[in-house]
Amino acid sequence: MTADPLEIYLEERDLARALREDVRTGLTAQPKWLPPKWFYDARGSELFEEITRLPEYYPTRTERAILAEHATEVARTTGAKTLIELGSGSSEKTRLLLDAFTRHGGLGTFVPLDVSISALRQSTAEIAEAYPGLRVRGLVGDFTHQLDRLPTGGSRLVAFLGGTIGNLLPAERAEFLRSMRDALESDDWLLLGVDLVKDPAVLVPAYDDAAGVTAEFNRNVLSVINRELGADFDPAAFEHVALWDPEHEWIEMRLRARRPSRVRVLDLDVDFAEGEEMRTEVSAKFRPEGVTAELDSAGFLVRRCWTDERHLFAVVLAQVV
Ligand code: SAH
Ligand code: TRP
Repeated sequence: MTADPLEIYLEERDLARALREDVRTGLTAQPKWLPPKWFYDARGSELFEEITRLPEYYPTRTERAILAEHATEVARTTGAKTLIELGSGSSEKTRLLLDAFTRHGGLGTFVPLDVSISALRQSTAEIAEAYPGLRVRGLVGDFTHQLDRLPTGGSRLVAFLGGTIGNLLPAERAEFLRSMRDALESDDWLLLGVDLVKDPAVLVPAYDDAAGVTAEFNRNVLSVINRELGADFDPAAFEHVALWDPEHEWIEMRLRARRPSRVRVLDLDVDFAEGEEMRTEVSAKFRPEGVTAELDSAGFLVRRCWTDERHLFAVVLAQVV
């Protein structure tokens, strides 16, 4: 079957307006910051796929191994008719779930949602071709704003993989889980992939690889702003920084100005001092008891929590109560 045409909940002009607002807020703040969803234009999505294959970036392959081991149980336990995937990207690991549901029977529809139209276009076409019995409805949208537009009815499983939930700040995360809960009905399911707290000697290289792919990914946000808003950032003038923050238990990604510069963007002149750092993303790491508590206060009950031998990553299956 071919995929349904993409359903666009975020038009170009909404995206452009949101980017303008975020850039204005973030670049006039002290310290400066930018929200992470702007990494993912076509080039950014490609670079992220490259990151997932780096030797240092353990989350993807670890989560894949956990899913391979437990996908059948996910399919059996949830008996879902609709699988919704948030921040789906390439949906590559999701195929393990689709395979299990295919064997188990009953899944009718797959609904990936992502801000990246290029990633979604490619993934929906490929999945529709590989799973001929499945209806594939790609949604272009923002999971921090548009959970009320998810398909309703039937028994639903929402997958949110890759540790992407860690890219939300704690207050955003609580709000996200709440609206997720509100968008679902009792007995619907959530499958959440979270990266775990571990030795910084393992964590930091995952966000600062030797080949420099993550650095290029981080700097790509500047190219996005140049292209979309006509700014004049020189990406080469910024250095990639990845730091472990032991207090918040998150990795913080920053861009550090190598030299003093002035950037023209919108109607602003934005000055960077030499060495000035701008936060571009956090990637929070979790402890199983913390995830359980956060899910609990949002109205989910954890039914399973699977991890790998080295306790690098966890996949949590929770039910709406
Ligand atoms: N789930 C995939 C991709 C993770 S990368 C994996 O596990 O490998 C994060 C994905 O979330 C990207 O595809 C990005 O485009 C998307 N994304 C980031 N912020 C988003 C937002 N606010 N709304 C919707 N999608 C978002
Ligand atoms: N969700 C991914 C993570 O937190 C996204 C990611 C991986 C990322 N590497 C990155 C984001 C580097 C910014 C910079 O692991």
